[in-house]
Amino acid sequence: MKKYDNVIIFDHPLIRHKIAILRNEKTSMKEFRELVEEITTLMTYESLKEGVPTEEKIVKTPLETCTQQIVKDDAIAIVPILRAGLGMVNGVHVLFPSAKVGHIGMYRNEETLEPNTYYCKLPTGIEDKLVLVIDPMLATGGSACDALTLLKSRGCKNIKFMAIIGAPEGISRVAEAHPDVKIYVSTLDRCLNEHGYILPGLGDAGDRLFGTK
Ligand code: PRP
Ligand code: URA
Repeated sequence: MKKYDNVIIFDHPLIRHKIAILRNEKTSMKEFRELVEEITTLMTYESLKEGVPTEEKIVKTPLETCTQQIVKDDAIAIVPILRAGLGMVNGVHVLFPSAKVGHIGMYRNEETLEPNTYYCKLPTGIEDKLVLVIDPMLATGGSACDALTLLKSRGCKNIKFMAIIGAPEGISRVAEAHPDVKIYVSTLDRCLNEHGYILPGLGDAGDRLFGTK
């Protein structure tokens, strides 16, 4: 895959370990859900190393008064792409409990692989926040591209996108269509199969999170 300035692929042994368990077809729904949350928390920590709106606050320690940087109240909004993105929300909330959540509902047409948007509800004032768009799977990139375009049409200017597993073609598509969005992917997989599934992947993330088939 070509190198993109706006793409960061984590190569962290802890995340790799957790993804190995996630991939295993024998991993239970409960464990799968817990791992998605844990991986998301690790990814959020790393992804928000830069670009988080902060402000100065005076703090009085037992010894003296000092000026500290704190994350601005209400600075971050989380936007999961339904359904599978829902599984990542708690992983971000662990670090930013008061972050408001917008939802974009999308499903891929199984034949064309084109995304269909069926729902969108965003928090008021989202255009002034750092928007963290989350979806565990970045396959053809169609869903991510459309979600980012939708958010931009609603005025969002500061957007980051996080996926746990990405296929090279999907990452390239989103990186080229949205060069202003930083894309964080935990692991880069090999390719897509003829049905648009990531290989080796983990199967259908939504089904594995929610026990559907
Ligand atoms: C999955 C996944 C992404 C999308 C990725 O959702 O959660 O949203 O596919 O594929 P793409 O990069 O080719 O667009 P799906 O459409 O299966 O819906 P679901 O989450 O409701 O299962
Ligand atoms: N969506 C999934 O859930 N899994 C894939 O491999 C591709 C798209």
